[in-house]
Amino acid sequence: MSFTTISTSLENGIYLITVNRPDKMNALNKTVIRELGEAIDHVYTKPDIRAAIITGSGAKAFVAGADISEFTSLNAAGGEALAKLGQDLVFSRIENCPKPFVAAVNGFALGGGCELALACHFRTASEQAKFGQPEVNLGLIPGYGGTQRLTQLVGKGRAMELMMTGNMIGATEAKDMGLVNHVTTAEELLPKTISIIQTIISKAPLAVAEIIKLVNIGAVGDPSGLEQEIYSFGQLFDTADAKEGASAFLEKRKAVFTGK
Ligand code: COA
Repeated sequence: MSFTTISTSLENGIYLITVNRPDKMNALNKTVIRELGEAIDHVYTKPDIRAAIITGSGAKAFVAGADISEFTSLNAAGGEALAKLGQDLVFSRIENCPKPFVAAVNGFALGGGCELALACHFRTASEQAKFGQPEVNLGLIPGYGGTQRLTQLVGKGRAMELMMTGNMIGATEAKDMGLVNHVTTAEELLPKTISIIQTIISKAPLAVAEIIKLVNIGAVGDPSGLEQEIYSFGQLFDTADAKEGASAFLEKRKAVFTGK
């Protein structure tokens, strides 16, 4: 598979997806969205991929937003189609993927870039990271899920302020408000992210997939979340991994999970 605007690599089950347009701050044009969609297909379908990291190439940007040069010809129908295509191919599919997706934010994460990080299951950031939803400066609003996912993550007041001012915040402030889980030096960003993912992929994959599904259900305020948790909890007892987990604990050995 050869991509032109992203690069990918797979090591020890972890698929690293790097948005690769550093001269344009890794802005998301139509090709990036399509190629990210293809990379996400791989995560869904390839058994040897256990988890994915999304990051940006170069020292300055994670992703500085949707490509503004593609906005000039858009009317209402075109803008709506652009947002829908991105959400369908990329953002919602990352959020709902049964395998973990982590954003390793290495620089500017603005607009669609912040939303790309928000769609991931959690975020790590380097000290250089900057987050913001500056669409209001263009007379626009976030279109790749920002009004919903940012609010879920940091609360209504903070989300309102970030989106209505268009201001950027740094990594420490982003961590303080729960937007990112860990802040590292630039050099440590990928090693730290990989180390967290290694822990996750040593666990039972079906249990991890249920956690992702149920947390997503709760995050949108679906009142059936507790009922669905009871059901999923029960279903997992019928998996080989749950039997292995309990046996390994009782036999004082490390569990070996198979995803069955
Ligand atoms: N879409 C298209 N091109 C973008 C872009 C975007 N979202 N963000 C940056 N670029 C391009 C710039 O146009 C410039 O291209 P050029 O060299 O051909 O002129 C190049 O990337 C470098 O950006 P530049 O603005 O010169 O870098 P900077 O360090 O001065 O500023 C940013 C960096 C990220 C603060 C600034 O580029 C910016 O504000 N970008 C737009 C962010 C935004 O509004 N995103 C939401 C879009 S909905």
